Amino acid sequence: MCGIIGYVGARPAEEILLAGLRKLEYRGYDSAGLSVLADGTIRAVRAVGNLDHLEAALAQEDALVPPATIGIAHTRWATHGAVSEQNAHPLCDAEGRIHVVVNGIVENYVGLRDRLTAAGATFSSQTDAEVIAQLIASEYDGDLAATVQHALGQLDGFFAFVAMALDEPDVLVGARRECPLVIGRGTDESFVASAVPAFLAHTRSTQLIENGEIVVLRAGEVEIRDANGAPVERELLEITWDADTAEKGGYETFMLKEIHDQADALAETINDRTVRRDGVDLAEECFDESLLEGIERVVFVACGTAYHAGLMGRYAIEEWAELPVEVDVASEYRYRNPLVGPRDLVVGISQSGETADTLGAMRVARERGARVVALTNVMGSQATRECDGVLYTRAGLEIGVAATKTFVAQLAVVYLLALRLAELRGTLSAERRAELVAALRRLPQNVEELLDGLDEQVDQISQWCWQANFFLYIGRHAGVPIALEGALKLKEISYISTDAYAAGEMKHGPIAMLDEHTPVVAVATTSPVLTKVVNNIQEVAARGAKVIAMTTAGDHTVDAHVKATVPVPASDPMLEPLLAVIPLQLLAYKIAMRRGLNPDQPRNLAKTVTVE
Ligand code: AGP
Repeated sequence: MCGIIGYVGARPAEEILLAGLRKLEYRGYDSAGLSVLADGTIRAVRAVGNLDHLEAALAQEDALVPPATIGIAHTRWATHGAVSEQNAHPLCDAEGRIHVVVNGIVENYVGLRDRLTAAGATFSSQTDAEVIAQLIASEYDGDLAATVQHALGQLDGFFAFVAMALDEPDVLVGARRECPLVIGRGTDESFVASAVPAFLAHTRSTQLIENGEIVVLRAGEVEIRDANGAPVERELLEITWDADTAEKGGYETFMLKEIHDQADALAETINDRTVRRDGVDLAEECFDESLLEGIERVVFVACGTAYHAGLMGRYAIEEWAELPVEVDVASEYRYRNPLVGPRDLVVGISQSGETADTLGAMRVARERGARVVALTNVMGSQATRECDGVLYTRAGLEIGVAATKTFVAQLAVVYLLALRLAELRGTLSAERRAELVAALRRLPQNVEELLDGLDEQVDQISQWCWQANFFLYIGRHAGVPIALEGALKLKEISYISTDAYAAGEMKHGPIAMLDEHTPVVAVATTSPVLTKVVNNIQEVAARGAKVIAMTTAGDHTVDAHVKATVPVPASDPMLEPLLAVIPLQLLAYKIAMRRGLNPDQPRNLAKTVTVE
């Protein structure tokens, strides 16, 4: 996830671009850069680190005279290629005539890069973005809009980009496929950016760009074209949000925005690893798949929400890859005497990559000769420096303290790992693998469908249970990690006491807690043990507890025994629990809001726990 902005008008572009980037910095801050054009010269400045570093780099170089009034800029959340100045955007062709800023991933960039290299191009970065610049440059004939249109047809993946050409100093061209890109319409000036806040200080008048369209921007003039190059009429939208709401994409909090960002987080994490119909590919510069060869056990170490992702990894890897799996909270693992060695793959899961206990557990395993992998969302984090390989979630920056989109992205990666191991170990047929790959690729769409109308549905449930002072969460099989995660979400942002259990444990103690005031949240999606979950639901309902069940759409087995159901789209039984966590995040959120609490900043908690 990155932030991009382009400006063309009459005012000095650099200041406008920098101020715009400040508003997009939440989208990533591994590096930043801008290219501005005046008088036949492009000034391109890039720097590793946040915008302060870019401003310092700009101050060291001579500004253009007269100042440029057109330019593009970028703040990066690295996906392809290390965090380095070379890989910072804007990227350009070897002669520096075409500059681009890109958000997203070009899935077929390796093939395109090989083709362009064979035709004589030389590449200076490891990014897929440079492929776009070089592709446009290789076909450019003086008409940037037409060239971008043609290039777009050759790119697979999901991205948005803005291009600028030295030979056309009055025009910017933007293109969009899946990743966000919006237009800002000013008087005698035009903007294009990943999000409205980037230009909200200058105009409230916007136009949306749909998938597959390009936009040609000149000072005060905007032309949108469809995939065939035909002009498109698009209505103007007036933004009424205040600046604070705008930064949250129109949502009232970052947590709510991040809950709604989950389809994107999944698409970015899954899509380019599942290009093959019947398999997963995890190999990339930071991950050599030979790490997976000959392993006899997988061990997940993690804290909090990330630990729950590890628990899901156990169900998926044991079932699909038939490999033993151990899962432990990192703070325990590091002070045990863990029996671990070279045949073990130890995966440290950490959104931040900075959690002290997870790093400690990874170090212990590494010292004992295990192969250690970091599963993290943050490029360049400490975990990525203390391991033998990195598997990234690509959820983008998460600001809310309660993990939401990074959790579903972690689940996606453990599923991908399980499926890759299954293929390497020959434990699943090609047909079954193809089914699972298809189901994984459908997840983003499943999430979109689920979120449609979910807010209202969960709000109605929260209306009758928000004052309860204890909630019990239950599930079985792959529903257990989700019950644990649902309970953690509620306690961390609502300060309500919760417990979560494997439903089979009910009669061994927790059922004593139940009375008619207790909401019981049950994960009752499709599963080999659904009938057993139904029995447990009946048992708690018989004690007067009010059950809220996460079910699979079309399945009504539990309806008669519960007060409310939230159906999630049908998928594979192993994947449906990923969908079921979304209503649970939203339930915790709604209850916190009804209690007048700020879910983005829960008391006593920090986003990153760098002390043990
Ligand atoms: C999740 O909502 C919590 N904020 C917390 O449990 C978190 O998952 C845990 O601290 C681990 O953080 P990490 O993923 O950055 O290592």
